[in-house]
Amino acid sequence: MKVTVFGGGYVGLVTSACLAHVGHHVVCVDQNETRVALLQRGICPIFEPGLEDYLLEGQQEQLIEFTCDAQLAVAHGDVIFIAVGTPTDEDGTADTRHVLSVAKTIGDYLAKPSVVVTKSTVPVGTADRVSEVVQQQLRQRGADISFEVASNPEFLKEGAALADFMKPDRIILGTSSGRVEALMRELYAPFNRNHERLLVMDVRSAELTKYAANAMLATKISFINEIANLAEHLGADIEKVRQGIGSDPRIGYHFIYPGCGYGGSCFPKDVQALQATAHKVGYEAHLLSAVQQVNAHQKQRLFDKVNSYFDGQLAGKVIALWGLAFKPRTDDMREAPSRVLMEALWQGGAAVQAYDPQAMEECQRIYGDRKDLALMGTKEAAVKGADALVICTEWKHFWAPDFAQLAEKMNQKVIVDGRNLYDPKKMSALGFDYLAVGRGAEAGMLEECEN
Ligand code: UDX
Repeated sequence: MKVTVFGGGYVGLVTSACLAHVGHHVVCVDQNETRVALLQRGICPIFEPGLEDYLLEGQQEQLIEFTCDAQLAVAHGDVIFIAVGTPTDEDGTADTRHVLSVAKTIGDYLAKPSVVVTKSTVPVGTADRVSEVVQQQLRQRGADISFEVASNPEFLKEGAALADFMKPDRIILGTSSGRVEALMRELYAPFNRNHERLLVMDVRSAELTKYAANAMLATKISFINEIANLAEHLGADIEKVRQGIGSDPRIGYHFIYPGCGYGGSCFPKDVQALQATAHKVGYEAHLLSAVQQVNAHQKQRLFDKVNSYFDGQLAGKVIALWGLAFKPRTDDMREAPSRVLMEALWQGGAAVQAYDPQAMEECQRIYGDRKDLALMGTKEAAVKGADALVICTEWKHFWAPDFAQLAEKMNQKVIVDGRNLYDPKKMSALGFDYLAVGRGAEAGMLEECEN
């Protein structure tokens, strides 16, 4: 099938690469000339495992073309995806300016009957607005070409996006048209084998499904973080509690890992946007606002632990930091807990020695050359002379370090672990002061709380 994808960003590139991988003919259009030039030379401008190989393969087989030429792109696709960014608007909702500007371009150039599909995460009602804008442009041109607008939100996880696209849990399709459904079934047939994954519903329900999924996942994280904080006060161990509740299939083991708060480009933005949308229609989403409050608090907790360990005397301290990305297998530092921590440490007068297997360049891009930030080439170099080590991201590289070597290199044997990677008993036997998340019982906090 002939497919056009507007947007050569994260979602647009993964969509283009995977559709070409199964044999569709894809034209991916982006207005950023530098980005398009890179892509045409086979260079992927973002880090996502496997993506560059897929894009290269698509180009070699002449199944993907990258262009800035919107007219050519619109003329190509029987299906035209809109996968451009929806940054946060001033009122907290998602800003649909780019989506609607693509809709205008489609209306300007549409030359044959097509299906326009919104893939970006957009507020409920956006597909209707896209339809109005395309129609308006067609009317202005005096063109009478049939088109329909459907919603098909993505559920890609950074670091696992190709696998998520190739083997989706579900494919949500919002449309009331049998013709659109048939076309999209054909498009997604290679991803919908063995068992039915396509869920067809009305457009607005599809748009809301995306927000509801992310809000539910964010709620699970804030919930377990709240119980973890409570466990510290009560002298209980959240890792035991997590397993205890996860064994109930109605709760499940997934996505209830306590930590230093959720980050990334989706959860923070989408939960806020859903709350703002609710407010706009006169409904106060109390749970969503609590989820965000708990998360903001959780991101602050690593700093609070370091700060109280040193009795607020951070000036001159050197803090080692393992993990800058908001999660493993990405270089993305958007809304990362590491940023809240570093900024608070600097405010308190401490210096940071950081290491991340992937996000060093990104960190340099964000913070530039600061005297109180040293980006180190290895995790071992990062702990040299440090007064404490803080872990923000659960990269596998950090799961089994040589603790004897750490003890030797560090100035003080203190680890603040935002991801609960180690066994508190073992750490204490090794002579470390080990402060993790919600591990009241084993970290010996019970005595503290009973006193
Ligand atoms: C998320 C959704 O999973 C995906 O379906 C949607 O399309 C986009 O948003 P992503 O942002 O890539 O994907 O990251 P994800 O793996 O879901 O993790 C999000 C954040 O939650 C990370 O900061 C992670 O550390 C945190 N998290 C996740 C926890 O703190 N505990 C958990 O148990 C799970």
